[in-house]
Amino acid sequence: MNSAPSPTLQELFREGAGYLEAREVPSPRFDAQVLLAHALGISRSDLLQRAGETAPEAISRHYRERLRRRGERVPLQHLTGVQEFWSLEFEVSPAALIPRPETELLVEEALRQGAGPSARIADIGTGSGNIAVALARELPAARIVATDTSAQALELARRNAQRHGVAGRIQFLQGDLAEPLSRSVERESLDLLLSNPPYVSIEELATLQPEVREYEPKEALTPPGRDGLALYPPLLDAAALFLRPGGAVILELPAGGAERIPALMAGRESLELLTVRADYSGILRVMVARRRLP
Ligand SMILES: C[S@@+](CC[C@H](N)C(=O)[O-])C[C@H]1O[C@@H](n2cnc3c(N)ncnc32)[C@H](O)[C@@H]1O
Repeated sequence: MNSAPSPTLQELFREGAGYLEAREVPSPRFDAQVLLAHALGISRSDLLQRAGETAPEAISRHYRERLRRRGERVPLQHLTGVQEFWSLEFEVSPAALIPRPETELLVEEALRQGAGPSARIADIGTGSGNIAVALARELPAARIVATDTSAQALELARRNAQRHGVAGRIQFLQGDLAEPLSRSVERESLDLLLSNPPYVSIEELATLQPEVREYEPKEALTPPGRDGLALYPPLLDAAALFLRPGGAVILELPAGGAERIPALMAGRESLELLTVRADYSGILRVMVARRRLP
């Protein structure tokens, strides 16, 4: 009996794109290319050059298995295990939020504050460690405390720090918000305090796409209670306590969150708002405030 001829890479790509499109996956052609290239262990551009080659059975099987899971709306990055952030490749897993491009604005703003190569920095809710690792790479003598409530996220962050050769300068501490800082840094000693905290309200969570709603960790998305901005007051209090005069607190904001900045800053006399920066979709995404100079 003749078995069916092995499909070419081009045929596998078309099959995959059609399969994902039928399941209403948002970018079916891109995702099929990424999954096929991942199954082969090659880049997407190499894949295009090799489109006419036939695929070994094991590759087709690996690819179809991941297509099936992508069709169930498992995030693409959970299937490839990686995501680029700040031009660095980060390991990702269901233990932490997949780094988002807009979070690079926090890194940009931190560098803009001119804290210097040996800055003392805290990253609260480090997740995969993307912010801490990117800053450690940019500031070659910086010392960073990276905290999270999740032990699994901290393990992932530590692996990412090792992967990029900066683990020796990042201290990973488990605990609630700024609590680990009281064990590790002096008051009024930090140059920068950054956080991309959970900021999706429970109501909003239900409206997010299934990749986020069903597969990213709830504790990375949603703060306790009903208010999406619940963690901002304690983060600003921590900034007032741990930043040196002139040091900056840099927080990612949800869409619409900027409207609440005046209320958040009210009564926090030791802090002054420096800037609120929009992301590439025009959403006011990052607030930067400074501990006032005496
Ligand atoms: C939105 S994710 C950000 C992850 C990463 N910093 C990024 O920008 O991609 C928020 C992170 O904060 C952590 N987290 C949630 N509540 C926390 C708390 N009370 N104290 C410290 N970390 C917390 C979550 O486990 C999660 O890793």
